[in-house]
Amino acid sequence: MGSCSLLLRSIFFTVIAFVGPHGNLSPNYYSRRCPRALSIVQAGGCDASILLDDTANSVGEKTAAPNNNSVRGFEVVDHIKAKLEKSCPGAAVSCADILALAACDSVVYLGGPSWKVELGRRDSTTASRTAANTSIPSPLSNISSLTSSFAAKGLSLKDLVALSGSHTIGLTRCTAYRARIFGDINTIDTSFAKSLQRKCPRSGNDDSPTPLDLQTPNHFDNLYFKNLLKKKGLLHSDQAIFSGSSADSLVQRYASNMSAFFKDFAQAMVEMRNIGTLTGRKGEIRIDCRKVN
Ligand code: HEM
Ligand SMILES: *[C@@H]1O[C@H](CO)[C@@H](O)[C@H](O)[C@H]1NC(C)=O
Ligand SMILES: *[C@@H]1O[C@H](CO)[C@@H](O)[C@H](O)[C@H]1NC(C)=O
Ligand SMILES: *[C@@H]1O[C@H](CO)[C@@H](O)[C@H](O)[C@H]1NC(C)=O
Ligand SMILES: *[C@@H]1O[C@H](CO)[C@@H](O)[C@H](O)[C@H]1NC(C)=O
Repeated sequence: MGSCSLLLRSIFFTVIAFVGPHGNLSPNYYSRRCPRALSIVQAGGCDASILLDDTANSVGEKTAAPNNNSVRGFEVVDHIKAKLEKSCPGAAVSCADILALAACDSVVYLGGPSWKVELGRRDSTTASRTAANTSIPSPLSNISSLTSSFAAKGLSLKDLVALSGSHTIGLTRCTAYRARIFGDINTIDTSFAKSLQRKCPRSGNDDSPTPLDLQTPNHFDNLYFKNLLKKKGLLHSDQAIFSGSSADSLVQRYASNMSAFFKDFAQAMVEMRNIGTLTGRKGEIRIDCRKVN
């Protein structure tokens, strides 16, 4: 498995156009479209370093409200996009590809696995609140509804469990886990619930940020799964993958073998490349990632 920065180097320096075996996406997609611009950006330190600098800041400010973190996240994308746009007017690199690379770079930066990022996605020209409401699983979901949400996108139970492991990093808000710490009596560690109730009372503090992995929120590791074995999953949907279903054995496997988790996580990230991906003449390459052209 190549590292992400090796991948970026291959984007920058590969001269021969190459369309990979998987649909129209390829790691070398930009080599024939914007080689000069990409090499300029790399000379400026863009092979993840732009992202890493900003990620380093956001890691250092973990207590910031999740909204503020998210806004800073958007700013990172804007910043990368602006640099690319400056050196390659006409915006050859899509916002969707920047996000795919940034996801990989962030995981690697925090100590997790890397994977091959296929490129050549185009950006959508629409956004659907209805689709967001119905396709994104709720943190209150049980195992059967999680399984069917993932199956609807062609993802297996193994993908569900491995991808849920991304909650080894990041934050959530009181509103997402309040019902669990007051209501899930049988599936939550009592002292864990009590300590959370101080931070997140029955009313108020709705946006109060809490790490999804109470132990190592800034490291991409397998402690998320170890927490689940101790009934210390923060979201109801987290604990749902270790609640007496056939997902339990996967949780146990990842809790005891971090390499197995990394391998399956990376594989699932690659598998997601074709879910709703726009290629060819569909969509557009956005000039400003926050707006359609
Ligand atoms: C299994 C179904 C999933 C559910 C129900 C779920 C739910 C949530 C919720 C409620 C939050 C907190 C958002 C907030 O409070 O504003 C969150 C955060 C997060 N989720 Fe998930 N998620 C799921 C799957 C995934 C997957 C598949 C990934 C990536 C592969 C992922 C990555 C993240 C990350 C990185 C954060 C932290 C964001 C931050 O710190 O700003 N989640 N998730
Ligand atoms: C975001 O950060 C700013 C400046 O640090 C602060 O004034 C503001 O209250 C924060 N907003 C939220 C929602 O936490
Ligand atoms: C989406 O969900 C939000 C929050 O539950 C709700 O306020 C909004 O009306 C929903 N919008 C659509 C289009 O379903
Ligand atoms: C799981 O959640 C779904 C959707 O909320 C619900 O219809 C179903 O009855 C639940 N299944 C179990 C076994 O609790
Ligand atoms: C852990 O998982 C890796 C990757 O699947 C595998 O090669 C290795 O044999 C496993 N180690 C143990 C101790 O089971």
